[in-house]
Amino acid sequence: MQAISVGLLGLGTVGSGVVRIIENHQDKLMHQVGCPVKVKKILVQDVEKERSVKVDASLLTMDPADILDDPEIEVVIEVMGGIENTREHMLQALKNKKNVVTANKDLMAVHGSELLTAASENDCDLFFEASVAGGIPILRSLVDGLASDRITKMMGIVNGTTNYILTKMSQEGLPYDSVLKEAQELGYAEANPASDVEGLDAARKMAILSTLGFSMKIDLDDVKVKGITSVTEEDLQYARQLGYTMKLLGIAIREGDKVEVCVEPALLPSSHPLSSVNNEYNAVYVYGEAVGETMFYGPGAGSLPTATAVVSDLVGVIKNMRLGVNGRSMVTPQYEKQLKDDGE
Ligand code: NDP
Ligand code: HSE
Repeated sequence: MQAISVGLLGLGTVGSGVVRIIENHQDKLMHQVGCPVKVKKILVQDVEKERSVKVDASLLTMDPADILDDPEIEVVIEVMGGIENTREHMLQALKNKKNVVTANKDLMAVHGSELLTAASENDCDLFFEASVAGGIPILRSLVDGLASDRITKMMGIVNGTTNYILTKMSQEGLPYDSVLKEAQELGYAEANPASDVEGLDAARKMAILSTLGFSMKIDLDDVKVKGITSVTEEDLQYARQLGYTMKLLGIAIREGDKVEVCVEPALLPSSHPLSSVNNEYNAVYVYGEAVGETMFYGPGAGSLPTATAVVSDLVGVIKNMRLGVNGRSMVTPQYEKQLKDDGE
């Protein structure tokens, strides 16, 4: 049976995990999609660089066209990060009728509408589960699992780096700078960690979460943001003595057509379920009018957890290819119509 060929843009923390899962879980993937899945080419910045995962040197390229213009590659997985360059690669992939999976919240929060429109126009899938809360399948839970409900509130810890920093500073009294360095070494932080600690990464995720959860277009500019850069060890120790835990919280509330979304450090009573979400773990509380309270918990950053979400999206794409129904994205037809109307 012919293998599905995948092109990978990026072989860093997440890309290495994707390669590992595709290799190590090949039996499971075969079982899911009915054919082998192989990585045909991988775009990197430096083909000579030493890598944590072993790949055949012939797979590596520094020329995006080797992936984007290869007719045998049917799915492009984007895990290189960045915005403008990456946007162009993704638009090119979609124009060339390749389905796309991405972990890139920076891109989806800013250019999501344009990319989703391009995907729909080219009958391609564009899936982005890994862009929010790493290994937690929260986006699919919102768009599939809770499809019948009206969600009115979401609240959560959606950035692993800041949660790691706050946990280590608060519980072990470690200084901010050294814990941030640890989070970077563990592969949790963004290439520019300012977006983690200043709350922007969480804001991007909250824009994506509320767009999908509330099924309406929420722009990044609509999200009020405050990060953790001014939080001191003393603040955290003092909060602990008073029975509180500080967390960087994303909050999205909908009342009728009005939506408010923000990210800010918040003091939670130590008995609150979110206060025991530690280290790089994330949790998202979702309130639906019919279901009531639900809570999703798991690793929010890191190589294999994030790659699990990416490769699961890949499985979804290939299943759609088998059924001949690509062109489905994670947004509702009503939202797609809104995008089209906005574009006209
Ligand atoms: P890394 O910095 O570890 O890896 C980036 C990879 O992309 C590297 O292999 C790099 O090549 C390659 N790359 C970057 N820019 C270019 C370019 N211009 N041309 C060619 N190759 C390029 O990033 P991560 O794996 O941590 O993150 C990737 C994406 O996943 C980001 O969008 C991030 O926000 C997202 N994400 C990350 C998570 C995490 O826990 N790390 C979790 C969820 C999402 P080279 O190796 O040669 O330098
Ligand atoms: N830098 C991000 C975080 C990676 O720490 O949550 C996962 O999106």
